[in-house]
Amino acid sequence: MSKEGGLAGVVVGETAVSTVGKSGVGLTYRGYAIEDLAAHAGFECCAHLLIHGELPSEDALAAYRGRLQGWGHPGGAVLAALEALPATAHPMDVMRTAASVAGATADPDEDPATAADRLTAAMPAALIYHHAFANGGVRLDLTTGADTLAERFLALQFRATGEAKPENWADMVRALDAALVLYAEHEFNASTFTARVVASTLSDFHSAMTAGICALRGPLHGGANEAAMELIASYATPDQAEEGILERLATKSLIMGFGHRVYKTSDPRSPVAQHWATQLAVDARQKNLLAVAERVDAVMAREKGLFPNLDFYSALLFHFCGIPTPMFTPLFVISRISGWAAHFIEQHNNNRLIRPTADYTGPEPRPIT
Ligand SMILES: CC(C)(COP(=O)(O)OP(=O)(O)OC[C@H]1O[C@@H](n2cnc3c(N)ncnc32)[C@H](O)[C@@H]1OP(=O)(O)O)[C@@H](O)C(=O)NCCC(=O)NCCS
Repeated sequence: MSKEGGLAGVVVGETAVSTVGKSGVGLTYRGYAIEDLAAHAGFECCAHLLIHGELPSEDALAAYRGRLQGWGHPGGAVLAALEALPATAHPMDVMRTAASVAGATADPDEDPATAADRLTAAMPAALIYHHAFANGGVRLDLTTGADTLAERFLALQFRATGEAKPENWADMVRALDAALVLYAEHEFNASTFTARVVASTLSDFHSAMTAGICALRGPLHGGANEAAMELIASYATPDQAEEGILERLATKSLIMGFGHRVYKTSDPRSPVAQHWATQLAVDARQKNLLAVAERVDAVMAREKGLFPNLDFYSALLFHFCGIPTPMFTPLFVISRISGWAAHFIEQHNNNRLIRPTADYTGPEPRPIT
């Protein structure tokens, strides 16, 4: 593949859902700056904006949160399928299976916006239910009184581990909520483009979501947050981190959580994730991990002129919320379903089959001998 490959810089369609890296505009969801959304709107506001087209009024938000809470149980068929998965299944296998089985049991006439709300609401419980069942044979009680998806996720996760809520619980909920806002949408990235290609064949909503999950899994896309956490945790001190990163760069290894296809100087989501990771670093171990991450950040800037993308500090944010590393990319899924859904709906509303062509590089025509 030539260096210019990967459709870099190629405009493949139009969207009214978001702008990424447009000069003077940055990242916006339907015209709202990501910085404003992260500071003033929670995840449910963003999901409503993306899936239903506008930010909800206060009353509509309360009703929307209530609906999502009501749909928080994935249903018997999904849970039965998850129980059949081996304990070794990666949580992304769990997400893909849950989305696929949810599709097999969904009402085919349901509008995609409602299907998106249902799937978003049910995925946290599906993920944590499988983890508790596979690791301890426990059929977790999935009812919580939590008002938001972020709090519901953390409440179920802490119930599954049996740990008491820490003192900074409120900060954890706010941090996770902000991370879900940051991950919700990002224009024509690989997984969204995948979902749009599936949508363009007039396939169904759950097929498009399942395909999006498959594309997101790779370490060059959603999987980067897990790889970034492993990298940060592999260094005991900032000095060791500096030495290790220099060694990796010398062998031309990729440092996960750095660089971006579209952003060239910074990722506007990273400072928000860094702010919350810093806020959550309360004990000495956490402060050391943060110091290691900051040194990696400084070395990458100095040596390569590269900046952290959303995945780098989000990895620490999730870790400080007590979330196991293999659940990081699934959290990305839970948030991004709203963005994929917005693109699915946009594609169906003005559809033309996405079917590009390729330059042929194979043998000249030849006879069968
Ligand atoms: C995101 C990413 C795939 C974008 O890739 P891209 O647009 O194809 O950019 P390129 O791979 O052409 O990178 C350009 C140069 O920067 C280097 N580079 C880019 N990201 C790098 C990273 N994370 N670590 C080390 N070097 C990196 C490349 O090696 C390349 O160097 P070269 O010109 O000497 O060959 C790439 O930056 C990457 O792999 N990052 C790590 C994975 C990651 O964090 N993904 C999440 C994205 S939100």
